[in-house]
Order: sequence, then C-alpha cells, then structure tokens
Amino acid sequence: MVVIGDLMTDAVAQAFHPLARGSDTPASVTMYGGGSGANIASWLAVGGVETTFVGRRGSDITGRTREMELMGYGLDSRMVMDPERATGTCVVMITHKGDRTMLSDPGANARLQPEDLPRDVFGPDAHLHVSGYTLINPDSRRAARVALRMARESGMSISVDAGSQAPLKRAGADKFLEWTQGVRLLFANLGQATVLSGTDDPEAAAKILTARYPNVVLKLGADGGLWASKTREGAIWAPAEDIEPRPGSVGAGDAFVAGFLPEWLAGRHPKEALGRGHHLAARALHQPGARPDLGEDQPVRRGAPRGQRIR
Ligand SMILES: Nc1ncnc2c1ncn2[C@@H]1O[C@H](COP(=O)(O)OP(=O)(O)OP(=O)(O)O)[C@@H](O)[C@H]1O
Ligand SMILES: [Mg+2]
Repeated sequence: MVVIGDLMTDAVAQAFHPLARGSDTPASVTMYGGGSGANIASWLAVGGVETTFVGRRGSDITGRTREMELMGYGLDSRMVMDPERATGTCVVMITHKGDRTMLSDPGANARLQPEDLPRDVFGPDAHLHVSGYTLINPDSRRAARVALRMARESGMSISVDAGSQAPLKRAGADKFLEWTQGVRLLFANLGQATVLSGTDDPEAAAKILTARYPNVVLKLGADGGLWASKTREGAIWAPAEDIEPRPGSVGAGDAFVAGFLPEWLAGRHPKEALGRGHHLAARALHQPGARPDLGEDQPVRRGAPRGQRIR
C-alpha cells in the first residue's frame, strides 16, 4: 500500500479551565507525531500491511525525529527534505469541555512536488491512498493530482479521504469532486460528506456521492460508519465500539481508514471492514496521540493482506 500525505507534529494542548483570553490557562501540552497521511500509514504498517509513505518534511531535527518514528513503525519512508520550510505542526486545542480546534501549519507538507513522487511505487498490484489535505492544499495539489493520474494510468486502485471540513469547503466541493475523478473509494466524516453532497443525512449523502465514487465510506463518530456502493441499493452500517473516548484523544478517523482499507482490499464483507475500522478507531481513542502506541500491550498483526486491487 502506498500512502501520500502529510507528516506533522501535533502539539496537543488540553485546557483544565475555561480559556482565559488574553491571559494564561493551565493546561497539559504534549507533542506527538501526527499528520493524517502519516497516521494512516503508521496504523497500516503496525497492522502488518507493507506500507510506503510519501511526503515532505523540513530539514530540521523535528523532521528527522518524525521520520525516525515512522520507520519505527516498520514502514518504507520516502520523505523528501524541504531546504526552507519547517516540518508541519498542528496545534490541537482542547477546551475543558472537550471541544477540539486545530490550528494547522502544513510547513514543508505544502511544498510536495510531482518530482518528489517515487516512480517505482506505482504499479498495478498496489493500492494508493491520497490524504485529502495534500489535495486540498493549493501548493501540494499538483503533486497529489499527478500521483492520482500516475496511479490511474498504472491501473492501481485508489482511495482518497476528504481531509477536513473547513478547508474542503474553502476549496469547493465541485473542485474536489473534479480532482478526485477515477477514485474508487472515498472516506469522509459527516461534516465533509455534507460539504460534498449538500445534505447532512448520512444515507442520502452516501447515495449522492456514489454517483461520483463507486464506493463511499462515511465515518459517523459514536454513531458508527457506513459503506455504500454504486451497484447496491441501500448502505451497510456498522456500529462503533461502545467505549468512552479518552479526553483529548486524536486521530480516530485516520485509524479507522487504516482499519477499513486492508480488509476491504482483501475482499472481506464491508461490515467486517467497517468493524475493523471501528476497532482501530477505538484504540486511537484510548491512547495518547494519533499514532499507534507501541508501548501498548497489543498484538501486532502479521501477515495481513497486502494492498491488492480494490473491488
Ligand atoms: N464516541 C465514540 N465512541 C466510539 N467510537 C467513536 C466515537 N467517536 C468516534 N469513534 C470512532 O472513530 C471513527 C472516526 O470518527 P469520526 O466519525 O469523528 O471521523 P473523523 O472526523 O474523520 O475522525 P477525527 O474526529 O478523529 O478526525 C468512528 O467511525 C468511530 O469508529
Ligand atoms: Mg470527527
């Protein structure tokens, strides 16, 4: 499996009290490896899927640390170093009530170039996942679009996620739909699906989107997730795991994608694939940071299916 996307540092700040604007608020602040694309790739690799990650980082110490972390997950890192821009950082602000706001500085991620794409990873037996952020960000868009074109031309199956609601809205639904033509599987949460389809009814949104993508997977938070297909009446829904998310948790959506994809590519029933997505999402919601916690006493799945062609 090949993942093209963003590599970030997440600075997760969790306020203990209501924000004292213009003054100080006691908080816990912790730095983690993040970036939606890198998170997905890490969860895939830890799950035993042979994974290549393509992205751009700064030539700074942080970038080196972030890349070392990726290699620690056992993935094939094909990062290009940007000589000027720093490795991306996202300030994740969590209020005392648990509301989450992200201040995202993509840094070097925004400079991904078509020349950064390693030609040898494009081939008919592999699957490509492109992070929505890379596509939505104007400066990395050309690289993402070239990657999508090369993947289509080499007969790869392709999935894309819709990145993030506000940037998606700014870029424009019509544009995003145009850039992602030929993609076989779209992942979106309900906010993103609403932007793309014009309705916030999950089943209706999924149905509308299957006119553009043969397969659509919607992540519905505590309400689970659903899969819809162009060739089938009605969506298949699977419940989320019955858990209490740890306050300040991040990255459930990325873990979900990494859970769903390999099962789906191996031809398992969508309900099973959704179930595996929910399972990894639940793990992300129970641990600090968005990447798999290797200290956790979790068996690493080995010999999981490689990225085969999607149905
Ligand atoms: N309260 C919850 N209880 C159980 N599972 C949850 C809960 N919230 C989220 N999840 C799990 O996380 C998955 C992804 O969550 P969500 O629908 O919010 O997607 P997302 O917005 O892409 O993710 P994120 O909020 O991490 O960016 C859900 O499909 C579900 O499996
Ligand atoms: Mg969400």
